[in-house]
Amino acid sequence: MSDDRTSSRLAGLRDYKLLQEQDQSIVWHPYTQMQEYAQTEPIIIERGEGPYLFDIRRRRFLDAYGSMWCNVWGHSHPELVKTIQQQATQLCHASLFTVSHTPAVEFAAALTDAIKQDFRFADEPSSLNHVFYSDNGSTAVEVAMKMALQYQNQIGQISRTQFLTFHNSYHGDTFGAMSASNIDVFRQKFSPSLFKCHHATYPMQVDPDEHESTRHHEMQFEALLAGRSDKIAAVVIEPVIQGCSGMRPLAEDYLGKIKKYCREYDILLITDEVFTGFCRTGPLIASSTELVEPDIICLGKGITGGMLPMAVTVANDKVFNAFNGKWSDFRQFLHGHTYSGNPLACAVALRNLQMIEEEKLKENVKSRARELSYALRRRIGSHDRVGQIRQRGLAVGVPILDENGSEDGGYETRDDAVRICHDAIDRSRVLLRPLGNIITICPPLNIESDQIEDIVTALERGLEVLEKPADE
Ligand SMILES: Cc1ncc(COP(=O)(O)O)c(C=O)c1O
Repeated sequence: MSDDRTSSRLAGLRDYKLLQEQDQSIVWHPYTQMQEYAQTEPIIIERGEGPYLFDIRRRRFLDAYGSMWCNVWGHSHPELVKTIQQQATQLCHASLFTVSHTPAVEFAAALTDAIKQDFRFADEPSSLNHVFYSDNGSTAVEVAMKMALQYQNQIGQISRTQFLTFHNSYHGDTFGAMSASNIDVFRQKFSPSLFKCHHATYPMQVDPDEHESTRHHEMQFEALLAGRSDKIAAVVIEPVIQGCSGMRPLAEDYLGKIKKYCREYDILLITDEVFTGFCRTGPLIASSTELVEPDIICLGKGITGGMLPMAVTVANDKVFNAFNGKWSDFRQFLHGHTYSGNPLACAVALRNLQMIEEEKLKENVKSRARELSYALRRRIGSHDRVGQIRQRGLAVGVPILDENGSEDGGYETRDDAVRICHDAIDRSRVLLRPLGNIITICPPLNIESDQIEDIVTALERGLEVLEKPADE
């Protein structure tokens, strides 16, 4: 090797070491035990292309968790990159507090049209006509909750200050969203500072074809609502499937029942589609699966194709109109963020929306979801450490059972799920992530058949680690 090449390789290694050390000591990673992270070798990504991420050691990883469930078109899709570049030469930011700009207007108009399209077979045309911009999913939920509270206050329902949400729900990490959530491990240490919400059961239906009666859940829900209907501002629900509690699909038709009671008791319905929306579970708007139109929808994650941070809270005419008045009435919505409706994010979100139609993304999700379901069942479904696989669209949870075949094995089975994911990363170069003892699969939505097979192969090989002692 020439001296030049040797010295540049050594410089590369030094850079890598330094980056690694700085990453472990300076960057504080979310939901990560940094002391343990400091003992591992971090994967430092340099670039992305299609469904793959490449690290600074030139290793290629298949992004099977869609960069925290938000990736739609793979990484650095040329069309989306071009859109951001073009927009950057025009305008990078101008605040909606004082002015407006073309990307914010065009995306809002296109989104409300797309929502109308998704609800076109409903009894009434959609009235979800008003788009409020924010930066992330938690904030989209926070905005929805504040909107509901201010709405109730301004229509004279001042005692309606509480929320009804669901067991095992997750709505984000800001205080309102945490209060609405119901996963103990995430909330416990903050619980004295959270406000109380009421929680109803979320009836699961793992097999889409196996219908069990949800009558007792419905009765419990109605009782909760009826007992305090003058106190509840809104019901907040993840439609179709709960993500962060380990991919728990909602019983078919249940959202419609919730909506019926909300209507009866004149309570707002908020659907948190941050995870389920933007085609992750099939349609653009997850609640349109059952043609149940909420009063307020929260969207995030895939909204920009996974390119830039943005979220929206979309309200119907009834909610929006309660905020009308003169300035001196002080009825305007009391919420805003510096970067709300950022032009770069809106421009790429608009292109994402157009591409969803042009590239027939929903059909790809349907076909790949079918293939993934079949491959998982065939290749790992009968493994004695794999529980009943849960899936809606390209949102999948694979429960790892403990040695007694139980799904509630606690930390031991969590450790096993972690070992399987580490093996998938190390040996198969497939990025998978566990949520407790559930391994989640949420690939980019334009994923191809071969890559689906690669994910399942990684899991199949990963399960082999359970045959070895844990510390090997
Ligand atoms: C249903 C749901 N709501 C809200 C959020 C929070 O979104 P973000 O992480 O962008 O704040 C998530 C994140 O996973 C989610 O799954």
